[in-house]
Amino acid sequence: EKGNHRHFMQKEIFEQPTVVAQTLSSYVRQADQTVALPQMDFDLSSIERMTIVACGTSFYAGMVGRYWIEQFARVPVDIDVASEFRYREPPLEKGGLALFISQSGETADTLAALRYCKAHGQTIAAIVNVPTSTMAREADLLLPIHAGPEIGVASTKAFTCQLAVLAALAAKLAVVKGTMDRAEEQEVVRHLLEAPAGLNAALDHDDDIAAMAHLIAPARDVLYLGRGADYPMALEGALKLKEISYIHAEGYASGEMKHGPIALIDEDVPVVVIAPSGPLFEKTVSNMQEVRARGGKVVLISDAEGLEEAGEGCLATIEMPKVHPLIAPLIYAVPVQLLAYHVALVKGTDVDQPRNLAKSVTVE
Ligand code: F6R
Repeated sequence: EKGNHRHFMQKEIFEQPTVVAQTLSSYVRQADQTVALPQMDFDLSSIERMTIVACGTSFYAGMVGRYWIEQFARVPVDIDVASEFRYREPPLEKGGLALFISQSGETADTLAALRYCKAHGQTIAAIVNVPTSTMAREADLLLPIHAGPEIGVASTKAFTCQLAVLAALAAKLAVVKGTMDRAEEQEVVRHLLEAPAGLNAALDHDDDIAAMAHLIAPARDVLYLGRGADYPMALEGALKLKEISYIHAEGYASGEMKHGPIALIDEDVPVVVIAPSGPLFEKTVSNMQEVRARGGKVVLISDAEGLEEAGEGCLATIEMPKVHPLIAPLIYAVPVQLLAYHVALVKGTDVDQPRNLAKSVTVE
C-alpha cells in the first residue's frame, strides 16, 4: 500500500526515520547506552581481518562499513562485489569472519560468495532484510534489519538500515577488541540514536530538492563526489540517479578528480558534492573549487556551516542538519535519494519499476 505517496520509492524514503529507529532499537540499549548484537557462538575479539561481500547498493553500505570498522576497531577489511569475489576465489585464513549484506537475502552472486566462504572455514555473518531468505538461513550470525518489505526496485530504506547495523557492528567490534572505551561507546550510541531525528530534518528539504530537480534533469552526465565514508554516498547517489532517471552518472572519490575525471568537466556536467562539515570538509571543498575553476556547475550538499563557507556561486545547495560525522552517511543518503527521485519525476520515468531492472537478482 502506497498510502499518501505517489510511489513506493517515495514512501520508503519517508519511512526511513521510523525503520532506522526500529532497527537501532535491537542493536543499541538505551538504558545503559551500549551496543548489543544478537547472541552468537563466535568470539568477536578473535577477529584479525574481515571480508565483506555484497552487490549494488548493499555493496556501498559495506564500503561505508569498512571505513567504520577500520577506524573504530582497527580491523582490516577486504571488500568486493560478489560477482568478482566468487570467481576470484580469494585465499581466506581459517577462522575469519565474512559478512554478507543483502536486502533480499537471495542475490545469486552474494549467495555463491557466502557458500564459498563457508566452504573455506569462515564464520558467516549476514545483514539481511528478509528473515526467511536463504542467506538468513545459511548464516551463522544473522544481523537482521527491520526495514519492512521494500517494494521499490531502487533500494532506499534497506540501505540506511544496513548502515545502522554496520555502525553498531563496528562499535561492538571496537569494544571487544579494546579500541573503544566505555565513554566512546556511549558517545557512538548517543549519535546513532540521533539518526532518526537527523533523517527527519533531512526529509524536511524535500520541497527544496523538488524545486531544483529541473536543473539536473536536462543533463546527459552527472558526477558525484565525496570523501571518506561519504565517498560511497557519491557512488550510491550516482547509482540511484542512473537507475531511475536513466541519466548517466558516476561517483568518484573527490581526491581522484584530478587523476582523470576532471577532464569531463564543463558547464553541461553538473557535479553533486557531498561534503558534511567535519575533518574532511576542507579537502573536499578544495576539489570542488577545482571543478568550479573549470566551469563546472556544483550542487553542494552540506550543513549550514559548510554552505556558509562554500555555498556561494554554486548552481544549487541542499542544506542538511548538522550531524556528527559518524552518522553523516546515513543522513546524506536522503538528499541523494530525493534528488534521484525528483529528477526521475521531471523526466517522467517509471520510478518503482525502472526499465531492465528486477528487485531481486537471483540469476548471475
Ligand atoms: C540499487 C539496488 C541494487 C541492489 C542489488 C543487491 O538500488 O537495489 O543495486 O542493491 O541488486 O540486492 P540485495 O541487497 O537484495 O542483495
